[in-house]
Amino acid sequence: MGALYWVRTSLVTTFAAVSVLIRGSSTASVCTTGFTVSLNDIYYYVPPIPVSTIPSRRGSNGFTPITVVSVTGSSFSSSDLAATVSNFTATDDVYQEAFASEIHVQHPSGNGHRRYNRPSWIGNASVTHSWPSDWDSAGIPNGPYFLSASGDVHEAYRLYSDVQGAFSETVIASRSGVFSVLPANLPGQSLGVAVPSRLYYTPTAEKPLAGVRLGVKDIYDVAGLRTSCGNRAWYHLYPPAEHTALAAQNLVDAGAIIVGKMKTSQFANGETATADWVDYHSPFNPRGDGYQDPSSSSSGPGAGEGAYPWLDITLGSDTGGSVRNPSQVQGIYGNRPTHGLVSLAEYVMPLSPVLDTPGLLTRDPVLWSTAAKALYGTNITFSTSYPRSIKTVGFPTTPTKPGDDLLLGFLAAVTSFLSAEAKPFNLSTHWTATKPASAPQNLAEFLNITYPILITKQQIPLVRDPFYRDYAAVHSGRLPFVDPVPLVRWGYGENATATVEEAVANKTVFMEWVASEVLVADSQTCSDSLLLYVGSQATVRYRNRYLPAPSPPFGFGTSQVSIFAEVPDMVVPIGQAEYYSTITSHAEYLPVTVDFVAAKGCDGMIFSLVEELFTAGIVSISEAGGSNVDGGDILFRRW
Ligand SMILES: *[C@@H]1O[C@H](CO)[C@@H](O)[C@H](O)[C@H]1NC(C)=O
Ligand SMILES: *[C@@H]1O[C@H](CO)[C@@H](O)[C@H](O)[C@H]1NC(C)=O
Ligand SMILES: *[C@@H]1O[C@H](CO)[C@@H](O)[C@H](O)[C@H]1NC(C)=O
Ligand SMILES: *[C@@H]1O[C@H](CO)[C@@H](O)[C@H](O)[C@H]1NC(C)=O
Ligand SMILES: *[C@@H]1O[C@H](CO)[C@@H](O)[C@H](O)[C@H]1NC(C)=O
Ligand SMILES: *[C@@H]1O[C@H](CO)[C@@H](O)[C@H](O)[C@H]1NC(C)=O
Ligand SMILES: *[C@@H]1O[C@H](CO)[C@@H](O)[C@H](O)[C@H]1NC(C)=O
Repeated sequence: MGALYWVRTSLVTTFAAVSVLIRGSSTASVCTTGFTVSLNDIYYYVPPIPVSTIPSRRGSNGFTPITVVSVTGSSFSSSDLAATVSNFTATDDVYQEAFASEIHVQHPSGNGHRRYNRPSWIGNASVTHSWPSDWDSAGIPNGPYFLSASGDVHEAYRLYSDVQGAFSETVIASRSGVFSVLPANLPGQSLGVAVPSRLYYTPTAEKPLAGVRLGVKDIYDVAGLRTSCGNRAWYHLYPPAEHTALAAQNLVDAGAIIVGKMKTSQFANGETATADWVDYHSPFNPRGDGYQDPSSSSSGPGAGEGAYPWLDITLGSDTGGSVRNPSQVQGIYGNRPTHGLVSLAEYVMPLSPVLDTPGLLTRDPVLWSTAAKALYGTNITFSTSYPRSIKTVGFPTTPTKPGDDLLLGFLAAVTSFLSAEAKPFNLSTHWTATKPASAPQNLAEFLNITYPILITKQQIPLVRDPFYRDYAAVHSGRLPFVDPVPLVRWGYGENATATVEEAVANKTVFMEWVASEVLVADSQTCSDSLLLYVGSQATVRYRNRYLPAPSPPFGFGTSQVSIFAEVPDMVVPIGQAEYYSTITSHAEYLPVTVDFVAAKGCDGMIFSLVEELFTAGIVSISEAGGSNVDGGDILFRRW
């Protein structure tokens, strides 16, 4: 015991403080972690700390649902009430009519119309009034609340079940900005997720993401919570984070509400459902038959965005495709940014710092841009003059299989929108024709081991070695459990003779070639051309298969242009295509997506273009549910 205690105090000083506190305390310490209530069979979480009190009003025993409205005029009539209730119900998934049996009207302070000094009635609704300065407060936002028996006003968070298993832990923010684990659950066999009323928030120039519900991949630290990196031993070994990673903090500072940490494949390595996911079960891809691989490593962010209308945006990371692949198979918007737009130096687990990037996954192309502005700040420039040249990779010439028509129609629409010219592009033959004289002829051979060398030779010293050391120190020299994929990759890196320097040198040759021969910076249009490739075309990858043992990720393909060239690569959903499901013995649909790639630093040009394509009706909001086009039930069932 003594040895264990000593090791822990040297590991993390906060452990010591906690131990001393426990040893020294003689009385029980009870603190309320909030309440769960159900209102007409809808579950709510009620935080323990009230946001206000209404002195003239007392709730009955337990909690009374109440609606707070602010009015500018001096009267509030039954037609005002009806309009408010129907507006709130249409705008907010947390609100329901049952909150309207008690109304609290806030009048602007000093308007002088103090005609209401005692509770009155409108129809069946009991109405109270206040002039916020009366109770020394600026008032509280409109929306649904729970009123306690002592007149305290508590916010209402609706509880949803994470039925697709996309979250690793769900959370609630405290007023101080520190997060804690959500102490609430509901039917659904998974974690409960609490979302605050949308009515509490109004986006402003300073807080453009006010009230936007955000999920964060569980490799980013969030203050107050443990990080798992997809590994159980890691989760339990290290104490809760004291800081929030910059990428997540940038979104929170813009008003986003973190509702949970979301599942990552282990240590952000690429894992396939179901065999590879030993420590945690892979999330469920909601599309099609519901048993397709959600891809990785931002699996939770991708599956959650695809499934849940109540989740607005998620923060993932892309080292070798980890934002783009889940976006492609879930049919949502997702970006790998230009490398280096936000520092990942602290409070986020690295896979390969020379390749790691933070990206956003969402169903809404406009929110995508807004959140990118918040995430990347002044390191992203939005421009609206577009290239007139499109290089296409992997597009059909004539339609032969499901999705081909869609791809051809989309390409024609974008080409015409830009008054551009589109031409098929062959990366490997273009390389052979224009490569630097000293570089090898064959691109696939040249870059074959570059990625596995970088991720393993960087992750071993940065993640594996300190983890093994810390774990052994508190567990009598034992090794922690690690999933097969990271283990096989680290094993390869351990023995490989090539170095990080050699890999970076090859990467640099390729990056400079891309910048001069493929996607060239342009003072007018940012990039001389756009490279468009097919991201997914009803890609079928069942999760109920027995898989061969994993091997290191050798090889080179179009999706790796952005990885090595440090350029933006952004997934745009364009529709869905039919496939025949061996699960349902029925025709089903899976997403079709196109990736947009441009010169380094042209992220903002692509964001602007996608927004314009949305306004022009060429791309749409992706729906949550069984289909990215029609929404609908997941697994043909309502939850
Ligand atoms: C609700 O009211 C707000 C503010 O007046 C308005 O902007 C919004 O369009 C209304 N929404 C609906 C669905 O009526
Ligand atoms: C008022 O309450 C009565 C009895 O519960 C109900 O029948 C009626 O529909 C309510 N009226 C309104 C306007 O909600
Ligand atoms: C922009 O990049 C600079 C330099 O890499 C970095 O210091 C800064 O934090 C970045 N901005 C944001 C919003 O992360
Ligand atoms: C590029 O050209 C090579 C050599 O002709 C060919 O083998 C390959 O399939 C082509 N790639 C694409 C994507 O068309
Ligand atoms: C890539 O490297 C692996 C492992 O050394 C090898 O098996 C494979 O043939 C290589 N592929 C190419 C295109 O060089
Ligand atoms: C770098 O390129 C050389 C060929 O120039 C190749 O033999 C080597 O395997 C490559 N190494 C890495 C780590 O990419
Ligand atoms: C690494 O090399 C050692 C010693 O040759 C060997 O025992 C081990 O199997 C190798 N590991 C891998 C993953 O190739």
